Amino acid sequence: MSITKQTIAIIGAGGNMGSAIAKSIAGGNYRLLLFDQSSEQLGSLSEDIQENHPEADFEHMSCPHESSWEADIIILAVPHGAEKELADKIRDVATQKIVISIANPVDKDFRKLTTRPDTSAAEELQQWLPHSKVIKAFNTTFAADFEQPVIDGKQTDAFIAGDNEEALQTVAELVETAGFNPIIAGGLSVSGTLERMQLLLMQLTIKNGYEWHAGWKILHN
Ligand SMILES: NC(=O)c1ccc[n+]([C@@H]2O[C@H](COP(=O)([O-])OP(=O)(O)OC[C@H]3O[C@@H](n4cnc5c(N)ncnc54)[C@H](OP(=O)(O)O)[C@@H]3O)[C@@H](O)[C@H]2O)c1
Repeated sequence: MSITKQTIAIIGAGGNMGSAIAKSIAGGNYRLLLFDQSSEQLGSLSEDIQENHPEADFEHMSCPHESSWEADIIILAVPHGAEKELADKIRDVATQKIVISIANPVDKDFRKLTTRPDTSAAEELQQWLPHSKVIKAFNTTFAADFEQPVIDGKQTDAFIAGDNEEALQTVAELVETAGFNPIIAGGLSVSGTLERMQLLLMQLTIKNGYEWHAGWKILHN
């Protein structure tokens, strides 16, 4: 467990996932830098954090570049379609830092992924940020799972993938703080599988009416 307080920038903090992640880790040993291009979105998030974690260390930021410059870990809580533009904005200040890819690059009908079959959103992000440590995480958990990570009596698993061992351990601690059981699934090339897994869970959610509160659990002896 890290004893140094890490600084985490959440880009897109006012969105469903950005706010769910912020609320779930606000009670941890982190300093949170929250950026959203619509600053009004951050108002209710701040109230929620202050109410539930009066000691939380967080602030609103005015741009992704400044947020990423100050951060140890950068979470891009934005649609995959916005990641290239953001990567271009933060590249010079994201060198050697952990950048978390949470994106599921699905089409509007939840029928297929929009990335080529031989790659993934996370691997594309790694190409756009060649000097950062891109880690896939939080893509197999729905936003609603963060409020109730125990589903049907079981703590939801959350898969992580990446090529840097130390970064994987750091993100595993973050995932645990958020309330999930972290499972390191493998290198960054496993990201395509994780993104396909969540496409399947979305399709099952729509078909079976899981109300966007569903997750994965590996059962084993
Ligand atoms: N929702 C889920 O349950 C879930 C689960 C796992 C993974 N994910 C992934 O999480 C990511 C976010 O999904 P979401 O459901 O949270 O979406 P969302 O509620 O629509 O939030 C998206 C956020 O991204 C921001 N954004 C969009 N384009 C941007 C740009 N060009 N520059 C800066 N910020 C930009 C939006 O800002 P504005 O407020 O200005 O629009 C908003 O804050 C997606 O990649 C999705 O695949 C979602």
